[in-house]
Amino acid sequence: MSIQIPRGTQDLLPGTTEIWQYIEKTARDLCSRYQYKEIRTPIFEHTELFLRGVGDTTDIVQKEMYTFKDRGDRDLTLRPEGTAAVVRSYIENKMFGLPNQPVKLYYIGPMFRYERPQAGRFRQFVQFGIEALGSKDPAIDAEVLALAMGLYKELGLKKLKLVINSLGDKESRTAHRNALVDHFKPRIGEFCSDCQNRLEKNPLRILDCKKDRDHELMKTAPSILEYLNEESRTYFEKVQKYLTDIGIEFVVDPTLVRGLDYYNHTAFEIMSEAEGFGAITTLCGGGRYNGLAEEIGGPETPGIGFALSIERLIAALQAENVELPIEQGIDCYLVSLGDAAKDYSVKLAYDLRNAGFTVEKDYNDRKVKAQFKSADRLEAKFVAVLGDDELANGKINVKNMASGEQVEYELTSFVAEFKKLYA
Ligand code: HAM
Repeated sequence: MSIQIPRGTQDLLPGTTEIWQYIEKTARDLCSRYQYKEIRTPIFEHTELFLRGVGDTTDIVQKEMYTFKDRGDRDLTLRPEGTAAVVRSYIENKMFGLPNQPVKLYYIGPMFRYERPQAGRFRQFVQFGIEALGSKDPAIDAEVLALAMGLYKELGLKKLKLVINSLGDKESRTAHRNALVDHFKPRIGEFCSDCQNRLEKNPLRILDCKKDRDHELMKTAPSILEYLNEESRTYFEKVQKYLTDIGIEFVVDPTLVRGLDYYNHTAFEIMSEAEGFGAITTLCGGGRYNGLAEEIGGPETPGIGFALSIERLIAALQAENVELPIEQGIDCYLVSLGDAAKDYSVKLAYDLRNAGFTVEKDYNDRKVKAQFKSADRLEAKFVAVLGDDELANGKINVKNMASGEQVEYELTSFVAEFKKLYA
């Protein structure tokens, strides 16, 4: 049997890669306007980074990481997400010493999670994410959310829902944590073994459990919002005020718990509300992670960011029937007939391409009719026809495929004349 692609991965072929490039370009342009700069970190990191960063009670760390030993017996992991690595890099490269804080970074790259593949869930997927490190101004929270929503809007998505929550600061979370333990402890025997382990280690994770989602205690669990101290409440109110000021609609959902441990204060998700989108509706997730830098050995550094996968973004575009305005068609197709003309077309194609045009020609000795068919399929704007007779007379015939108009040019000035067609 021939070798096949690994489960949960995909080949992106021409026709699709253009869509990806368009989305990536839109994201990069948006980042430039918001002044986020690109960072590229390795595809693999020391496993320890994710144990400490993402959290050892999370599904990602417990069940989903591609972890391996290299030949030097180092414990490495294909990155399941980008935030921990960006924070590691911020610390390692002493970006906290840069004069301009916060340091605003973005990344686009593959992430790896050993999950059960289904629509919108892959084992290798590409995240576009941003991280703003070094500010605890709630205005940055609003900015991060504006950028995420801005990308979707710019690409033409309309059916979106932004859900936000506050997980509060350490003090608020400790109070909430104790309340959660009191709430679940008497009946923890009715929960799955994962939840039983989570009870003491990290009871907030229970709220994120997929198996026990419908247990009655889930609905009556104490809400974090009731446990926010003054500072956390004020912070959350400020974030909401800024969002309202810039006209971004949101709903507050006190049950929103993210699947990674590093969050505090603002947490959010953006969902697709398009009909037929499928079971997994979360397009984007993020939040604030003020303690993460210290967790992995750096100085105290507040941070906030989000990540979204391009795969789910494309699924949402399809669900909303959005056609991206992707440029199609080539500038010129060179049709040649006769051996001398065919040879000459090699140089002609080279000259036109050098002048900046998108150009294609025949390489399979096809008949003129078949060459014209290729030109049609490639949506050529012009077809330049060169036969041995024209070549002998130093002429070339150019047809405008939209109007049908034909013009004959001197071969010697053809490239210059062709430029004028585009001037
Ligand atoms: P996350 O919620 O684990 O957060 O993932 C963020 C986004 O990545 C999801 O909303 C989804 O679009 C996409 N995603 C996750 N898993 C898959 C998958 N298996 N297949 C396709 N897409 C997937 C994080 O990763 C955090 N690092 C986000 C963040 C950045 N928080 C602060 N800064």
